[in-house]
Amino acid sequence: MKAITLNTFGGPDAFELSEVPKPVPGAGQVLVRVHATSINPLDYQVRRGDYPDLVPLPAITGHDVSGVVEEIGAGVTAFAPGDEVWYTPQIFDGPGSYAEYHVAAESIIGKKPATLSHLEAASLTLVGGTAWEALVVRAGLRVGESILIHGGAGGVGHVAIQLAKAIGARVITTVREANFDFARSMGADVVIDYAKEDYVAAVMRETAGQGVDVVFDTIGGDTLARSPDVLAQLGRLVSIVDIAQPQNLINAWGKNASYHFVFTRQNRGKLDELSALVERGQLRPHVGATYSLADIALAHARLESANNGLRGKIAIAVV
Ligand SMILES: NC(=O)c1ccc[n+]([C@@H]2O[C@H](COP(=O)([O-])OP(=O)(O)OC[C@H]3O[C@@H](n4cnc5c(N)ncnc54)[C@H](OP(=O)(O)O)[C@@H]3O)[C@@H](O)[C@H]2O)c1
Repeated sequence: MKAITLNTFGGPDAFELSEVPKPVPGAGQVLVRVHATSINPLDYQVRRGDYPDLVPLPAITGHDVSGVVEEIGAGVTAFAPGDEVWYTPQIFDGPGSYAEYHVAAESIIGKKPATLSHLEAASLTLVGGTAWEALVVRAGLRVGESILIHGGAGGVGHVAIQLAKAIGARVITTVREANFDFARSMGADVVIDYAKEDYVAAVMRETAGQGVDVVFDTIGGDTLARSPDVLAQLGRLVSIVDIAQPQNLINAWGKNASYHFVFTRQNRGKLDELSALVERGQLRPHVGATYSLADIALAHARLESANNGLRGKIAIAVV
């Protein structure tokens, strides 16, 4: 089969279009013909060599699959050949999805929502699963609460806005001014231009000095460091960004805050919950750009560049 391989870490040109053996499903596994995948910052982090100890070369990266079951291994009961499925492959555990075929355990695979195309479905599995884990499982966001979502125009952020609205929360989000209308169309109640306005002052103004019940951080760095300043008493903060620098949590202590850190985990239950929201019309990924698998280097270069004009996700067509 054709696959995009990494034989060395580096820039987008490190990718090579290669011919590799088609994988064979073992017991409890499913072989999927990949129709679409998408790209995430994790993919360029892997490509440039941020995790050399976790990614033995040669490697195939890619963390979203939408496709069709071609073959099932012994003991598989939930799927049959011909089923349309979607999932995020196990991270740092075997080949990824930049390939014509992928094998995964049936326990992490879900039935693709019928109302999404393969390109859309592949644009939701990782970001949707992450936002679900952050808002529902960890923050326990409730009806009528307020949430600040940092980075509301991004892959994770635009899905998090929709999820928070489906839960019944008031959503404040930070984006560039050029993305105000986009964020509002996702459901944001209040949009703040992070490039022009101090978001702490803006959130305190918008909440009449009370702060928000939940902060969802998709940015890290200074954005994360200042987030306790906008938390209400007993607020919860969830960050999905790896934090390299020490944090001063004195303001979080004063707020009786709880902190959660998420490294996305795979399971079918999460996908089924997302699917229910999709089918009810409450959740839909925005595909901001589409590239072919052969053009994966161009897609990576775009996602990595500043001011890339992207909203939502970059989807990759595999067939
Ligand atoms: N832990 C996990 O399991 C997990 C899972 C998924 C993602 N992540 C991490 O989460 C981060 C976001 O992922 P993603 O897929 O959403 O990336 P993405 O699609 O590249 O989106 C990032 C967004 O952040 C915006 N942005 C940049 N600086 C900002 C700031 N200071 N304030 C507000 N918005 C800002 C960018 O918009 P502009 O156009 O304005 O620059 C862009 O819309 C990445 O670091 C990724 O590695 C972690």
